Amino acid sequence: MCKYLVSGPSTLYGEVKISPAKNSVLTIICASILLAGEVLIKDCPDILDVRVMCEILKSIGATTLWTKEGLTVNTKNIFTTILPKQKTAKIRASFFMVGPMLARFKTVTVSKPGGCKIGERPLDIHLDGLKKLGASIKENEEEYLITANLLKGAKITLRYPSVGATENLILASVFAKGETNLINVAKEPEVVDLCNYLNACGAKIKGIGSQNLTILGVESLCKSISYTPIPDRIETGTFLLLSYLLDSNVQITNINLQNIYDLTKKINNITCKNSGIYVKIYSDKLYIRSKGEKYSLGDFTTSPYPGFATDLHPIMSAVGLGVRGQTKITETVFDSRFMYLKEFAKMGAKFSLNGNTVTIFGKGENIHGAHLVCPDLRGGASLVVASLSAQGDSVIEKVAYIMRGYSQFDKKLQSLGAKIKLIDGDYIDD
Ligand code: UD1
Repeated sequence: MCKYLVSGPSTLYGEVKISPAKNSVLTIICASILLAGEVLIKDCPDILDVRVMCEILKSIGATTLWTKEGLTVNTKNIFTTILPKQKTAKIRASFFMVGPMLARFKTVTVSKPGGCKIGERPLDIHLDGLKKLGASIKENEEEYLITANLLKGAKITLRYPSVGATENLILASVFAKGETNLINVAKEPEVVDLCNYLNACGAKIKGIGSQNLTILGVESLCKSISYTPIPDRIETGTFLLLSYLLDSNVQITNINLQNIYDLTKKINNITCKNSGIYVKIYSDKLYIRSKGEKYSLGDFTTSPYPGFATDLHPIMSAVGLGVRGQTKITETVFDSRFMYLKEFAKMGAKFSLNGNTVTIFGKGENIHGAHLVCPDLRGGASLVVASLSAQGDSVIEKVAYIMRGYSQFDKKLQSLGAKIKLIDGDYIDD
């Protein structure tokens, strides 16, 4: 099993380049099914979730090819509408293949999806929307059989702006007859990116970035395209927060400022307490220098975009451990995203959890290294952040979770001077 050995406290110096967004790439891979042709995803990050998606597509007849330019996926020769059980059960984003499979083949069999165990993750919004577009759904304990001889445009109001359901319904509507109105959709930058990508392929989606989308069904999309997805805002946030927490002098390149602006503002506000903090922002990169006493960045409540991203919640908690003052985080998107706290406790962390609100009592140098186990993807990354600011050595087990979403995390950190080492191989499937 892969683990990280981490020695803290670290300082960071140098430049790190952010990869294209995991959550954009995964849906663009799903969307490639609609093309019945070829997409080159430029600079595609080599992360485990992408590898699993490639495995799923290959097992139904698609081809995938990694080159220096990125990942090419060709879906022309898909020969079955039954998605492989074991692989789809592993990754929740595989359920986003349902929309495009239905749109192209009128039927799909898919197992109930897996993914990080961060709470109940029902699929009712996906399924209700698909039904409104004309799909019929049969299910047993393990899988769904979804069919639709004719997908027809409809007016669908999402009861919650689910990212995945929004994307699935967009993908299902691209070829639907007539006009589809999706109301109360997710506005996450990755949803916007998917819409821009689909329009570049020939889809007709309007209202991009707003709460309501209109999709005018088209007969087909282009057969070949290359696309560069937006930079990963969660990876950007992770490196930005880590650079704030540790003594550092770091340039973060390939960023989309708009998508992380609030975070940079919070850090900039701290300069009144600590003149050693300096952030300079350009349109596609930022520079952060951080020295001396670090203070809490305040209280956060996670919510759909443009609110504070739930995927940054565990990272912000880890920052809370190493700074002066209290950091309070209220989780409203997922109901059980606190598994990382059990690991923090092993490091001597002080916190209290009341319902869905955690208060972290910053202890700075009193946090010590420990033997830790990643509970999930972002919880795992938070353990790396905490270990890099702690005194002494940590062993972090099950880092395959981190590799699901962070490209070359250990190598990028090493290039900044962090003392982190991957041991027991570079790939593990657990
Ligand atoms: C996506 C992201 C994930 C991010 C999350 C929220 C991908 C591959 N993953 O996950 O990184 O943390 O958005 O920004 O893009 N819900 C329902 N019924 C449904 C669907 C969702 O109740 O049919 C609930 C979920 O249980 C959760 C909330 O809605 O409480 C948000 O989930 P959703 O936005 O769907 O997240 P994902 O698309 O799974």
